[in-house]
Amino acid sequence: MADLTIRSIESRQRGIWYLVGVCVATTIGGFLFGYDTAVISGCVDFIQRKFELGPDMTGWIVSSVLLGCIIGSAASGAIADRFGRKSVLQLSSVLLLLSAIGSMLAQTVTQLVAVRLLGGLGVGMTAMASPMYMSEIAPAHFRGRMVSLYQLAITIGIVCSFYINAVLLKYSQTHIESNADGFLHWISVAEAWRGMFGAEAIPAVLYILLLGFIPESPRWLIRQGKVERARVILQHVMRDDEVEHSLTDVKEAISHESNSVFELFRPGLRLALLIGIALPLFSQFSGINAVMYFGPTLLKDVGFEVGGAMGGAILIGIINCLFTGIAIWKVDSFGRRPLLLIGVSGACLSLVGAALLFPMADVPNLWKLVPLLTYCACFSFSYGPVCWVVIGEIFPIRYRGRAVSIATAAIWLGAFSVSQLFPRMLKQFGAAGCFGIYAGLTACAIVFIYYFLQETKGRTLEQIEQGWVK
Ligand code: BGC
Repeated sequence: MADLTIRSIESRQRGIWYLVGVCVATTIGGFLFGYDTAVISGCVDFIQRKFELGPDMTGWIVSSVLLGCIIGSAASGAIADRFGRKSVLQLSSVLLLLSAIGSMLAQTVTQLVAVRLLGGLGVGMTAMASPMYMSEIAPAHFRGRMVSLYQLAITIGIVCSFYINAVLLKYSQTHIESNADGFLHWISVAEAWRGMFGAEAIPAVLYILLLGFIPESPRWLIRQGKVERARVILQHVMRDDEVEHSLTDVKEAISHESNSVFELFRPGLRLALLIGIALPLFSQFSGINAVMYFGPTLLKDVGFEVGGAMGGAILIGIINCLFTGIAIWKVDSFGRRPLLLIGVSGACLSLVGAALLFPMADVPNLWKLVPLLTYCACFSFSYGPVCWVVIGEIFPIRYRGRAVSIATAAIWLGAFSVSQLFPRMLKQFGAAGCFGIYAGLTACAIVFIYYFLQETKGRTLEQIEQGWVK
């Protein structure tokens, strides 16, 4: 008996390490997502000077990646349903590598826009497939934590890109007088923006290599009738009795479903679709990317020195990472709903605080940084991770890929609109007006979450699916 217990503990620990390995491999996609979308902030001035770009072409350089993300996430759902989750992840990893190398070597601005678009396709695909893949492989009591790690990787990617941009900038400034030449000098000193893009090739290669070792999603395999292969994978992460339960539940769920994505408009499931689109849009319309990417501009506008503004932006990035830890810790015990309600309310109050403080000329600068930091902290343990967790778990298995595609495309559409509109809004309404608008939209989100979002912690994907139908 004691022997059996020890063996079962050992196999559970092995299972956890197996999951951690799968998780690490998959989250590199999140890192690349964060890096790729943030790196442009450090490169754009150099590129503008190098290619002598006007505002329109500069806009294209910045937004091409986001357009690629919208297309990549919208198009890859059908691929994920047809060819598997792992295939989409692998395709995304190759696109990300090609984009990193292509951006580093681009000779014309058209080439640069094209390879940035390619990178966007890769980011869109990985953002669509990773949370879904993780949800499908993790046991119910672990799922939220695992998917939240993905958000942590995004935030680490963002901070790394800020950091690498700053290091390369400094390096190029201190070595610009040297007579050296050659490839390394070209990409790190003469045209340092090339190095900023190119650095992404290293994690991209690692991503390609590690993805070779991860298994296909067991739930997708069952759907394809490959039950034995799915059983072997599930045995790594669950006890034998849980495996049999899981196999029966998934088969049962599939037998009740039609293959058409239009099923999502059926009563019950309509709510899943509404949540899957509204939650990502609300999260983006709280203005996270305005704060993340225009943070230095905002801080400079209220009187920060350039160095202080850059420092403030890095601090925002670090807070973003640290507070994601709360979600990783609590999302499976406390639950998705409470985390969202508390975090989104905190984000709303912080935005109101920023709207009130920013116009006050006699308030010390540092005070103006505080609401931005509390906003980021609140976003980081709520909207940031929980959005990915919810998107990955609320849709039925047969058309999960296509449905997650719609939800992820909503995230990118939101991100695209905010980054396109923010500069104009800033000019028209000022920072306080922008924060006021984001606060209003965030208040609507609280009402939406309160009335519509159901708790999914600890339930298997099949139980969640049943819940909608009932
Ligand atoms: C969002 C991004 C955002 C990032 C910030 C992600 O979940 O999709 O738009 O920049 O979080 O941490």
